[in-house]
Amino acid sequence: MSTAQIGLIGLGTMGAALALNIADNGFDIAVWNRTTARTKAFHKDAGALAKRVTPTETLEDLVASIKSPRAIILMVPAGQAVDDQIAALRPLLDADDIIIDAGNANFHDTNRRVAEAGDMPFLGIGVSGGEEGARFGPSIMGGGKRTYWDRVAHILTAIAAKHKGKACATWMGEEGAGHFVKAVHNGIEYADMQMIAEVYGIMRDGLGLDNKAIADTFASWDKGPLRSYLIEISGKVAGATDPETGKPMLDVIVDAAGQKGTGRWTVIEAQHLAAPVPAIEAAVVARNLSSQREARAAGEALFGAAPRHIAHDVLPLATLEEALIAGKILCYAQGFGMIEKASEEFGWALPLPAIAEVWRQGCIIRSDMLDDMATALRDDPDRNLMMAPRFAGMLKKSHGALRQVVAQAALHGMALPALSSGLAYFDAMRTARGTANMIQGQRDFFGAHGFARVDGGSGHHGPWGT
Ligand code: 6PG
Repeated sequence: MSTAQIGLIGLGTMGAALALNIADNGFDIAVWNRTTARTKAFHKDAGALAKRVTPTETLEDLVASIKSPRAIILMVPAGQAVDDQIAALRPLLDADDIIIDAGNANFHDTNRRVAEAGDMPFLGIGVSGGEEGARFGPSIMGGGKRTYWDRVAHILTAIAAKHKGKACATWMGEEGAGHFVKAVHNGIEYADMQMIAEVYGIMRDGLGLDNKAIADTFASWDKGPLRSYLIEISGKVAGATDPETGKPMLDVIVDAAGQKGTGRWTVIEAQHLAAPVPAIEAAVVARNLSSQREARAAGEALFGAAPRHIAHDVLPLATLEEALIAGKILCYAQGFGMIEKASEEFGWALPLPAIAEVWRQGCIIRSDMLDDMATALRDDPDRNLMMAPRFAGMLKKSHGALRQVVAQAALHGMALPALSSGLAYFDAMRTARGTANMIQGQRDFFGAHGFARVDGGSGHHGPWGT
């Protein structure tokens, strides 16, 4: 019986949560997993929602259970598994059935899969919000042909998070546009998390605050301009106790950050686009560096630990908060700048204000500030966000604090890669005459590359001799 309105393949954590969300929103869904035991367990655990779920044991059964024209979501690990799944599924489908890859795909792979699909419908959608988001309302960034998106938009908007009643699910553009926007989301996520971790480091090592005081500080910041999911959970992480030892949870977690790679993709792509995203780059580098634990320990033994203590009146908590506000604006300005560059480069017409809107709820970087960013981008999508009146005003007020924090951290031997790169970006972006004239002179000296003159014309050479 073909009764299901949609199908889903892959009942891992995210797939299972998304399937329940779809059922919870009143849609009948057929599901299939590589291991049937998992499918059965999922159906058994679905409780009252089980009646909306058709568990299937073969791909043929899955396809037969879905109403035509079909839509099937893939929630399998990014990479080869997606290609394998498409290859197994496509021969069973009709020409107008849609395959939707909702995993964290590299957008170049999505571009390729769209091309390989030819006239057969394929969508690549970025889904953010972790397990809870997938279950109760993620942020969804769609990519592929608009007509295919329109066919499934009623389901995707129903299951998405809502901001003041507006669904956080938007079509971003053709091909891999949805997965591209998701990658930039993750790049910003890395930088936002890194800046928070840097400020945590100052509170812990510089100001000597205990975990409770740190948790309370994040909780109080979560009531002000920094209000966001990441600040909220940082407070909760700082305040948690390890059930095994009774120690603060943070004190038993190894200081080496993992990564699945989406932040790295953002940085690689930013380099291809020549889009400056230094805070995101710094955040990826910081994760890589964090993994070198033995080398860091050897460095501390060789050079001695830094003299990290900072007096509270030198860096009050309010200064730290202001610095984080400045850092956050600068990091988002970079991320949106990269999206704008990609939009031109790939001919996608990416909707910058709508991207800010879709990130207001459901996703990991959701925050109050994104609402103001959406307004600023709607006023002028081509202007660097740091120049928009609202954010320029906030930066005028807060860049001094960022400077204070970066300077004190440098003096006391604490690394702040993301915050200091944010400050360097700010200073570079407000310097009308920079220093690249020296680089152009050097390039011309050793390679006769030529330079433009301030008094006009390009292709000039200096008097360097023959
Ligand atoms: C999201 C997250 C998610 C991401 C994980 C882990 O938007 O829900 O970005 O997609 O994959 O949070 O990412 P890393 O392992 O790269 O930190």
